[in-house]
Amino acid sequence: MKLSKRLTAIDTLISQHHDIIWDCCCDHGYLGMALLKRAAANQVIFVDIVATLMDVLSAQLSSINKLQKTCDKKPQWQVLCQDVGKIEIAKNKSQVVVIAGIGGELLLSLMQQIIANNALDNLEHVRFILCPVHHTYKLRIGLKTLGLGLISEQIVYDNKRFYEVIEVSFNSQNEISNTGQSMWNLNHAQHKAYKQQLINHYNKMLNKDAVYYQKVITDYQGLGDS
Ligand SMILES: C[S@@+](CC[C@H](N)C(=O)[O-])C[C@H]1O[C@@H](n2cnc3c(N)ncnc32)[C@H](O)[C@@H]1O
Repeated sequence: MKLSKRLTAIDTLISQHHDIIWDCCCDHGYLGMALLKRAAANQVIFVDIVATLMDVLSAQLSSINKLQKTCDKKPQWQVLCQDVGKIEIAKNKSQVVVIAGIGGELLLSLMQQIIANNALDNLEHVRFILCPVHHTYKLRIGLKTLGLGLISEQIVYDNKRFYEVIEVSFNSQNEISNTGQSMWNLNHAQHKAYKQQLINHYNKMLNKDAVYYQKVITDYQGLGDS
């Protein structure tokens, strides 16, 4: 299975070997399967709330296991059918938590739950790789409020849509900006188009809350033109 540009961008960020990688809201599980295939971690944990999807994925992973019986050092996998907000992060393990392909507001709510449900000690060294669909401005403010710091951020154009891949951790002291300041190259036509798309969208939202959305627009305009 060839990964999309968006999932490839996330996969590329996972260059070091880890104890555990979480593919949260995994759906088809393409990303986790690619990570398993290249043994990126000792264990890959797939999490999604839809039981039928997780049954199909478990069956697929079991059949891959049977085919690979001869390999001793193959990484382990686990499929959890549950709410991502309730995942339990083990202590003293190097871990990456990926949450991709859901709305930014839901993603923030899941992050708030994960952080409320796990001891800060256990979360300290976890890298979170987040790729929401829309609402990145609100998500970024929420992540900053949770005390997370920025590791990296990038814009990915995939299948005629723009995405932001935001990598954060409690271990980073770099402030998360509302607009993703470090990811923009406004000499790049695609980045210019994305900025304009955001400004157009927030202009349409002005009638909902003029003060708030004017601030959002001003922040994006403040990125400059090039
Ligand atoms: C569009 S898929 C994303 C698939 C993959 N992560 C990607 O980026 O291509 C979104 C998935 O999120 C799952 N989901 C939504 N809310 C969830 C929650 N609270 N806990 C676990 N899974 C959830 C849905 O069941 C769905 O399979």
